[in-house]
Amino acid sequence: MTPLFQADDLVVRYGRITALDQLSLTVHKGERIALLGANGSGKSTLLRVLDALVFPESGTLQFAGAAVTAARFEGREFTYAFRKRVGLVFQNPDVQLFNPTVFDELAFGPLQLRWPTGQIRERVEEVLATMHLGHLRDRSPHQLSGGEKKRVAIASVLVLDPEVLLLDEPTSALDPKSHRQIVDLLTSWSGGEKTVITATHDLGNLEEISDRCFVFEKGKIVKVASALEVLHDVPLLQRVNLVSAHKHTHAPGQAGAHSHLHGS
Ligand SMILES: Nc1ncnc2c1ncn2[C@@H]1O[C@H](COP(=O)(O)OP(=O)(O)OP(=O)(O)O)[C@@H](O)[C@H]1O
Ligand SMILES: [Mg+2]
Repeated sequence: MTPLFQADDLVVRYGRITALDQLSLTVHKGERIALLGANGSGKSTLLRVLDALVFPESGTLQFAGAAVTAARFEGREFTYAFRKRVGLVFQNPDVQLFNPTVFDELAFGPLQLRWPTGQIRERVEEVLATMHLGHLRDRSPHQLSGGEKKRVAIASVLVLDPEVLLLDEPTSALDPKSHRQIVDLLTSWSGGEKTVITATHDLGNLEEISDRCFVFEKGKIVKVASALEVLHDVPLLQRVNLVSAHKHTHAPGQAGAHSHLHGS
């Protein structure tokens, strides 16, 4: 079966910083992949490459068997077909939100694709309801709280129902109820048609949201394994800053502070 994404030896540099260093990966249709790694290890850069917002300096990327190159995106047909199939939710929602109201934000993608007005209204209302965002319909996205912005950014991508979702830290800044809602959404895509690639620091729900994990270290994928296997590899987790060892003292007056592993 042709992989959905096949990347070989990708190199991306920002000036003198190497963000992706000869990175290769294969993702098949219907997989849910978690990208794990320390700050600055290259997760967001990879998502930007997979969304064809950044093109590698060397190496190749194929999407469903077709080479993803800057030249291809000069053609409207390829761009249109790709954008319809792949959606990215940015780590920072401020980069993504620019419409006057939440409703307009969700309607923007369908409007670009020239959906009929009635269908847009129906779909936007449907996504506002499933994402519990109906009460924010007429608010300005820029005046929302961090977590509300995050959920609007996710909703604005879900509205087009892309078959590939690239999610950059979708649960960061969310309160417990909103957090659970997003985890449930990711869980509901298990074994389905959707391919979901999620960058996350959230180890608590890793098993629910992923079938395979790619662990990043300095622009490379250093381990590909199930959530369970990754969670049991404590030396690896420590090395790539996914857990930290800290010292704490039990009760006041008690002797013997001890080292204690702590998920961060
Ligand atoms: N626009 C940019 N200009 C210059 N350097 C950048 C830019 N974006 C990212 N970098 C650098 O590239 C490297 C990879 O960054 P990236 O954002 O991909 O990491 P990340 O794994 O997503 O980190 P985080 O967990 O903090 O989101 C880092 O060294 C970062 O400083
Ligand atoms: Mg990032």
